[in-house]
Amino acid sequence: MHQTTTGTITRATPRRLPRTIGELRDEVVGVGTPAPLLDGTERPYVFLDNAASTPAFRYVLDTVVEFMPWYSGVHRGTGFKSLLATEVFDAAHDTVGEFVGADLGTNTVIFTKNTTECANKLSRRLGFASGDVVITSVTEHHSNDLPWRRNAEVVHVGILPDGRLDTAGLRRAIERHAGRLRLVAINGASNITGFCTPVHEIARWAHEAGSALFVDAAQLAPHRRINMLPDNDPGHIDFLALSAHKMYAPFGTGALIGPLRVFAEGAPDMVGGGVVEIVTVDSAVWNRPPHKEEAGSPNVVGGVALAAAIAVLRSVGMEAIAAHERELLAYAISRLKKVKNLTLYGLTDDLSEKVGVLTFNIDGVHHALVAAIMGAEGGIGVRNGCFCAHPYVKELLKVTPEEDRVLTAEVLAGDKSRLPGMVRASLGCYNTREDIDALVSMLERIVRGEYRGHYVLDRASGAYRAENFRPDYQKYFAFEQPAHTPARRTASEAS
Ligand SMILES: Cc1ncc(COP(=O)(O)O)c(C=O)c1O
Repeated sequence: MHQTTTGTITRATPRRLPRTIGELRDEVVGVGTPAPLLDGTERPYVFLDNAASTPAFRYVLDTVVEFMPWYSGVHRGTGFKSLLATEVFDAAHDTVGEFVGADLGTNTVIFTKNTTECANKLSRRLGFASGDVVITSVTEHHSNDLPWRRNAEVVHVGILPDGRLDTAGLRRAIERHAGRLRLVAINGASNITGFCTPVHEIARWAHEAGSALFVDAAQLAPHRRINMLPDNDPGHIDFLALSAHKMYAPFGTGALIGPLRVFAEGAPDMVGGGVVEIVTVDSAVWNRPPHKEEAGSPNVVGGVALAAAIAVLRSVGMEAIAAHERELLAYAISRLKKVKNLTLYGLTDDLSEKVGVLTFNIDGVHHALVAAIMGAEGGIGVRNGCFCAHPYVKELLKVTPEEDRVLTAEVLAGDKSRLPGMVRASLGCYNTREDIDALVSMLERIVRGEYRGHYVLDRASGAYRAENFRPDYQKYFAFEQPAHTPARRTASEAS
């Protein structure tokens, strides 16, 4: 890729959409990047934390680079670049709407930062009145729970003994609260167990009770085809939220999709530039959605990136992605089941209703220690803890209310060392059996006690750190400093 004198970036090779799962892995930025290990060697990093945030598709990065010469503020500029950027940004909204099967004649796509912002915005915009009820579940990420608690009376539906959402209980709760029920807010797939939720069935129950349905699709959108269905279909999803950084486009965008009429009513939740048609010193006439809901200068590049990621997902096909991930998940489960002293959570025989999230614990080894060893000695990126879903994790681990009270007191006293949790490995569409083999082989080493480092617990954070493991981060990435800038001390030098 090089820059011509006209300022247009031309590419040595044209942007290319991968078409198959086989082509996908090479099309993910950073796959196989060497990571430093405790013993001073390096190995290609194995990334198994896709439920938190995925790497970028190369096509996304290339699209962004190619767009940048045309980048300009949107909507109110009159120059060519502004007109072009506006066209592209508006089209990105439509791409997202089409990807989730929304009727764009009656629905709007609002770009936000992420799913968390979507739920907070909706919670403010629905204008809950005193006594209004939102039904959610204990399986939710905090982002699909705390925003509703702020503004409405929240009812939490529980889980079945196998850890799945109690859908019969949900139906009963919906019927019981009919009349006062404004919203059922449920995840499309769990970030703890990967269990998928029967969203269209729940939509029918919600609609019969006069309620709307919000689906938190943060963990669903990268893995399964979504169809919000026509507005008049009883199984229609009214509101849906997703995060681009979990969809191979980590450029700071999320999307909330929902009825135009809802966002056309009332005042926007955030006010400022862009949300108005006309302003006097004592009045403002609101713009139409989505502009009304995207206050300030929007993240144009993030929108372009998300649309590019969707092009890749569609090119490979969501069915092919789901099939590949299901095969990988089955392989991972079969291998993990054979690891001694390892407990897997959220098991099911029907993998069509589970995305690639694997949570587990090893008897007698703290979850934070397992995750630290994986990173320092295996070069494997996993995650541990409660994953922003404390109620669900504590239910799965059968933490009693009394234990919960003690734990809360300990956290308040600055000690997180005894917080319960799990280790989570989560799959993306580009992962392979070799990634699973690396995970399992490292877990087997841990079970056999064959790790070399000495790990120290930091009570304040609850994390373990390998003593004497001080990677030189600057060797891998550093900002270039002007010559006169004094060198910044690394974190390990400072401590
Ligand atoms: C199920 C679920 N919902 C919501 C979120 C919040 O997403 P974000 O951090 O992008 O706002 C997450 C993030 O992990 C999630 O897994």
